[in-house]
Amino acid sequence: MFDRIAPRYDLLNHVLSCNADRTWWWRTARRFRHILERPDARVLDICCGTGDMTLALLRRRPEGAEPVVAADFSEAMLALARVKLAGRRVEVVEADAMRLPFSDGSLDLITTAFGFRNLVNYRAGLVEFLRVLRPGGEVGILDCSKPGGVVGRIFGFYFRHLLPWVGARISGDAGAYGYLPDSVEGFPPPPAMVELMREAGFVEVSWTPYTFGTAGLWRGVKAQ
Ligand SMILES: C[S@@+](CC[C@H](N)C(=O)[O-])C[C@H]1O[C@@H](n2cnc3c(N)ncnc32)[C@H](O)[C@@H]1O
Repeated sequence: MFDRIAPRYDLLNHVLSCNADRTWWWRTARRFRHILERPDARVLDICCGTGDMTLALLRRRPEGAEPVVAADFSEAMLALARVKLAGRRVEVVEADAMRLPFSDGSLDLITTAFGFRNLVNYRAGLVEFLRVLRPGGEVGILDCSKPGGVVGRIFGFYFRHLLPWVGARISGDAGAYGYLPDSVEGFPPPPAMVELMREAGFVEVSWTPYTFGTAGLWRGVKAQ
């Protein structure tokens, strides 16, 4: 599915989020600037898609820093990421988030933007992130969520009806943009996701809502 929607993915992202996506990537990178500013920090952006989250991370890296690893399992997405990230200190690799090609305790930061929701098993994904993080290493999971109240009702209508319609018209793939609301529906609400992260073994777990809670950042730390 991600291979199929790749050619129109960037355009759709900007249209469907009313351009808020750029702010969300930027805020996520800013949240982890204390790690990104360290030249020796080893950073992975998993489920990188066409590379926008990676680009936001790279903007905060100092001159001569360790390359950021941008990884995804869709070759079509990675082809676009390679073009977008050309000439920057980055390694673009094909990898599955459920079986990361890194040794235990080797990374300082893992980010994932709008990808975690798609994993086949959230708990197993979190355990895999913990495996490759160093003690004290951090994870940032940027993803959609369903706000409550009036905003939630407006958002629900937009997500259920308008978004699949616009998505299908622009991408030519009705299935993919019907899948999006379903995947958000099936994603744990913020407090449940926080609990899941704690149960998996993360500490200092938090959730920061972005844009009225239509998206947000879950952050967790691997205990020392
Ligand atoms: C909605 S896109 C998000 C892309 C990008 N991070 C962004 O913010 O625009 C989700 C991405 O997750 C990738 N993905 C989903 N499950 C994955 C997995 N198990 N391993 C690696 N990549 C995965 C898809 O191929 C797709 O590129």
